[in-house]
This record gives sequence, structure tokens and C-alpha cells, in this order.
Amino acid sequence: MEYTRLGRTGLKVSRLCLGGMTFGWSCDEATSFRILDRAFDSGINFIDTADIYSFWIQGNRGGESESIIGRWLATKPRREVVIATKVRGRMWPGPNGEGLSRAHILQAVDDSLRRLQTDYIDLYQTHYPDDDTPLEETLAALDTLVRAGKVRYIGCSNYPAWLLLKTLWLSDKHHLARFDCLQPHYSLFNRDEFERELAAACDDQGIGVIPYSPLAAGFATGKYTRSNRQPDSTRTGSGLIQKLLNNDQAYVALDVLHDLAQAHSVPVAHIALAWQLAQPVITAPIIGARTLEQLEEVLGATRLHLTAAELSRIDQATKGF
Ligand SMILES: NC(=O)c1ccc[n+]([C@@H]2O[C@H](COP(=O)([O-])OP(=O)(O)OC[C@H]3O[C@@H](n4cnc5c(N)ncnc54)[C@H](OP(=O)(O)O)[C@@H]3O)[C@@H](O)[C@H]2O)c1
Repeated sequence: MEYTRLGRTGLKVSRLCLGGMTFGWSCDEATSFRILDRAFDSGINFIDTADIYSFWIQGNRGGESESIIGRWLATKPRREVVIATKVRGRMWPGPNGEGLSRAHILQAVDDSLRRLQTDYIDLYQTHYPDDDTPLEETLAALDTLVRAGKVRYIGCSNYPAWLLLKTLWLSDKHHLARFDCLQPHYSLFNRDEFERELAAACDDQGIGVIPYSPLAAGFATGKYTRSNRQPDSTRTGSGLIQKLLNNDQAYVALDVLHDLAQAHSVPVAHIALAWQLAQPVITAPIIGARTLEQLEEVLGATRLHLTAAELSRIDQATKGF
């Protein structure tokens, strides 16, 4: 496994990050442990989750993924694992049960620490913006956590470029901890959102980038084909997959990925990840796995290096997504 610095910080993270969204949702605790063990043994030291996972389960207010990771983490050397989690979504009833206010963040972090069975979070991320709280209040609350040692680095997710830059400016102006990492939605099948403005902003400001859904929620693994639009999956209903299922250009792009995968004798997912890893601004794609076999298939993608001609072919085939 290769390691790299998270943005301009000195923190070293593996070039693949393991996502925890499936834990307690589409896979049970035993399978989650097998996935976590295999990832750790393969050298992945970077795990991403969120307090709200798995919010899909009826009546569940979240916290299950963090709890599973916490029980697993208790069996591992804490200092060898980089834990990233998020705050923002609704976790308890009432007007302060969600958001990025000081009131919500200070309670939510203690809840996450308890579920994760740890006394610090390596990377604490705002899950998505909160228009109802002043940015200064959110940044000051996060700065309090960094100074208290509950949180080591802070990051944000789903922020547009203007908002990311505004928060960096405010942190600088008020001498507060600053976001060192962005978690955007980015894959071959969802390019424009990140590439239009965010990529240059992150590059310019030395922000680490850890894209979520790098396999387009499974579409870029090659299991969706023109003749099989309902493969074994829990994600077919997602907005992204629904958008791609009847899109001719998506299958033409998949043809290119299949072609390259065959030429390199690797799974299609390796091509999608190698394309992303080839971009200097990318720190570590956050992969998701529902089974151990899925993780096994994806591991090894960091060893594949595509040529400039191959990268340009992929670029052409997926322009416009
Ligand atoms: N910040 C945010 O707003 C946000 C949003 C979403 C996710 N995330 C983070 O990003 C992580 C990854 O997101 P994601 O799950 O969308 O990533 P992804 O890697 O694009 O998709 C993972 C899904 O693809 C399918 N898959 C994976 N490997 C496969 C293989 N080898 N063969 C066939 N199918 C395979 C599985 O779903 P099926 O088997 O069910 O098809 C798996 O759950 C999450 O765990 C979470 O930590 C963050």
C-alpha cells in the first residue's frame, strides 16, 4: 500500500480509504469486521464514516456504523488507524438535533467519541453545509475541539468552491483551525461538480481530497451492462445509478473501461480508481464494500499505472458526466 500526506498536513494516509456506510446497513457486523480486518491487513489505515450512518434503517437515528467501527477499533492498535467521521445530519429530536451550531457540534462529537470508543477523532468533517448557522460559529466550535485534543484535523464534505474558500479565509482571519480536507462526490460518472472549480481550489490551497462514490456506487465496477441493468446490488435505486441506467454514453464509457481492464488483466474497478489516483490533487478515493469479495476485487488498484494515452482515452469517453 502507498501512503501520502493529507493535504498540507503531516498526517500520512493510505491511498485508498475504506468507507463505513455499508456497516450496519447493507452488511452485518460480522461481515463489517471481516472487511475492516482485510482492509487493515492490506495496509489501508484510513477509515471514513459519519454519525448518521446508517440512517436508511427505519427508526434508526444513526450511529450504527460508528459503533461497529468502535468495537473493531478496540481490537486494534489505535495509533495505527486514521479515523474520519462527520457531523451535520439529524441525530436527535428537536431544533438542535442537527446542524453545525456550537450546541450541536459539542454534543455530537462526544457521542461519536463514545460510539467509536476512542478519545480522539483524526479527521472530523462537516457532512454538508448548514445555511442556518454563521460560518464563524462552526469554525470556532471546531477550533475548540482541536484545542481540546478531541479532534486532530478538520475537513468538510459537499461544499461548493466559493464556500470552501470563504471558510479558509475566515479561519485565517480569526486564527482558527482550518479545513485541511474536502470530501466531494467524484467519479468518472460524476466529474463536472468537482472538476469545474473545486479541483483547482483544492490544488491551490493545499487541501487533501478524498472523493466519495469513486466507483459510482458500483456502476464503474462493470457489473451493470446493457443487458443486465439489475445486477446484485443494494444501490440500484440511488439517484446516480438511476441517471446512468438508461444513458447510452454511460455504456459507451463502460466499453472503454472494459477494454482497458482486459488489456491490463485487472477488474474494471481498478481502471476507475487508477484514473482517479493519477490526478495529483487526489489524496485517497473512499471505496465502499458490502462483501469481503467486493473489497478483495478492488484492492490492488493502487498498483495500476495507466499511460497518458490511456488516461486521455478515459477522459474523452467520460467527458460531460
Ligand atoms: N460525504 C458524503 O455525503 C458521502 C456520501 C456517500 C458516501 N460517502 C462515503 O464514501 C464511502 C463510499 O461511497 P460509495 O459506497 O458510494 O462508494 P463506491 O465505491 O462508489 O460504491 C460502493 C458500492 O459499489 C458496489 N461494489 C463495490 N465493489 C464492488 C465490486 N468489486 N463488485 C461489484 N460491486 C461492487 C457495492 O454496492 P452494491 O453491491 O450494493 O451494488 C458497494 O457498496 C461511503 O462508505 C462513505 O464513507 C460519503
